[in-house]
Amino acid sequence: MASKVKPTFHVQEQYDSKLITDHEYDGIMELDNDLPPWLMWLFYGTMFFGAFYWVHFHTFGIGPSQAEEYALESEAYEKTYNVANDNAFNESAVALYTDQARVAAGKEHYLKAGCNTCHGGAGEGIVGPNLTDAYWIHGGSPSDVFKMLKYGNLAKGMPSYSGQFSDEQIVELASYLQTFQGTQPANPKAAEGELYSGAAPAQAPAATDSATEAETPADSLAPAQEPAAEPAQG
Ligand code: HEC
Repeated sequence: MASKVKPTFHVQEQYDSKLITDHEYDGIMELDNDLPPWLMWLFYGTMFFGAFYWVHFHTFGIGPSQAEEYALESEAYEKTYNVANDNAFNESAVALYTDQARVAAGKEHYLKAGCNTCHGGAGEGIVGPNLTDAYWIHGGSPSDVFKMLKYGNLAKGMPSYSGQFSDEQIVELASYLQTFQGTQPANPKAAEGELYSGAAPAQAPAATDSATEAETPADSLAPAQEPAAEPAQG
């Protein structure tokens, strides 16, 4: 068996001169080739990038650091979803939606958040108070209801939903609750709190007793204008 396997290329000398003779393992030898240019440029590129990166982000601090980027992103998020952004959203002048699509969205939130487990699917009240009557523990104005949903009253068993829903979604929820007003669910929980008559609930008008949401529009209570803040649609 031949102890040395020499490359049998047609330009033998060219390769011979490049042989690294002291690198031989079981007859296999190495050529001292130049790296291909694309690889060299890639390598130089990473060097330039590294130098640029260091100077840009660390030496002069021109680019935002990770912490700054995070702060910027959070700010953008809060602007978009209006979370805890009291300047943009006036909680004391909440106007309910009358738009059926918004009310339907509110119903979705109601079920998704599991409000029905404490207030019943028809708002009749279970652990939580009855939401179909005109009596409210914390006030029945749209702003009162809004704040109750947003901040809750954990001490009495009502969770806060500011983490789960945007202000806009909470208004949708409150708009859906409005449709409970004046309905006559089975097994209603006894009224609690005080009568709220600030905006006559839909008890009297065109009372379809077995009112469905579609037939009990929130119009009667809802002020004309849309809520002050109208962040990202949807
Ligand atoms: C774990 C049970 C529970 C869940 C879940 C719950 N609530 Fe409540 N809720 C309560 C209790 C208990 C109260 C009464 C709090 C009090 O007395 O201060 C209450 C109070 C309220 C009030 C104020 C009623 C009033 O008379 O002033 C509203 C409005 C309300 N809940 C709506 C909702 C909505 C909407 C959801 C879902 C997003 C929800 N709740 C989820 C238990 C719950």
